[in-house]
Amino acid sequence: MNSENQREMRKNEHVHLVSKQNSIEVFSHFDDLHFVHHSLPEVNYEEIDITTSFANIQLGRPIYINAMTGGSKKTGEINALLAEIAKTTGLAMAVGSQHAGLRNEQLADTYKIVRQKHPNGIIFANIGADVPIDFARKAIDMVEANALQVHLNVPQELVMYEGERNFLDWSKKIEQLIKIIEIPIIIKEVGFGMSMETISFLHKLGIQYIDISGRGGTNFIWVENQRNSQINYEYLNGWGQSTVISLLEAQNWLNKLTVFASGGVRNPLDIVKSCSLGARAVGIAGPILRKLLAEGVEATIKQIMDWLEGIQVIMTMLGARKISDLQECPIIVKNEVFEWCQLREID
Ligand code: FNR
Repeated sequence: MNSENQREMRKNEHVHLVSKQNSIEVFSHFDDLHFVHHSLPEVNYEEIDITTSFANIQLGRPIYINAMTGGSKKTGEINALLAEIAKTTGLAMAVGSQHAGLRNEQLADTYKIVRQKHPNGIIFANIGADVPIDFARKAIDMVEANALQVHLNVPQELVMYEGERNFLDWSKKIEQLIKIIEIPIIIKEVGFGMSMETISFLHKLGIQYIDISGRGGTNFIWVENQRNSQINYEYLNGWGQSTVISLLEAQNWLNKLTVFASGGVRNPLDIVKSCSLGARAVGIAGPILRKLLAEGVEATIKQIMDWLEGIQVIMTMLGARKISDLQECPIIVKNEVFEWCQLREID
């Protein structure tokens, strides 16, 4: 099989496996966080503002559909449906890694469809740190992107039997991208989270936007391990930092760069908790895909609208008029997360 066919097949397998992956984690670190209830919030639900922004980009909603797919006929169809959902609900949306479309013009349509379906939407392009530098511009043009996501997915590549093994030049490529790309560049993980060391390193490279995409939801070690019949990597299923821990690791950089959260976000309470730990907006991937595949577009739209309502309800209870006010709300940190903070000297 040539590498293009292999890539197309991989895209379909990812969707199939994620549709089967109900959380393999039994416990979420979001459950180690508790807001403190206050009986007199002194706000009006109608006046709660759930909009947010970064760079010069206004987001009508604090959640976005995170990078998933494109690159095969089937995933192009999924992208079209996701774009329809994003348009109806007012969400920003990232396309999946565009490498397939950059190497094969016909497959570019499986990403372009997102811009066609959502002409005025906020769309993020998506590439890996390993692609030739001129591909970045092409990826941006392909979807007329408002921002460029660059994914870091070392564990996935290593467990994937056809994956990359040489990661020597990634930081140099990121530095080059910063020099040539005019739109915001968001460096994102893919579900393994970030540490303060990673964030500090990215900040020194000149990166201003990161999506810490932590452990707790879609698990690409598990996914690739299902595809890899050669070696069993099951013992690595718990690799990486959870989304909550990654956000805590980011605390000292919140006034130096913009942080997005994603990974294992299950409901509006997790979204609001993420924002209280400093996330500017929250990405959701696997749960939206699973809802779409199981119940269709209308049910997914309803779920997102219910979630937006849920966010507004929780913000009202907390007396937070806008997303950034959430950072002022007292939150209790317990158990494993508390222990991690102590060991890593995070206040
Ligand atoms: C992903 N993710 C992803 N990320 C990325 O930057 N480029 C990509 O091509 C993909 N592909 C992809 C396919 C599928 C089917 C899923 C579910 C996810 C990772 C995604 O953007 C996100 O970082 C993680 O999935 C964690 O979020 P959830 O799924 O736990 O909400």
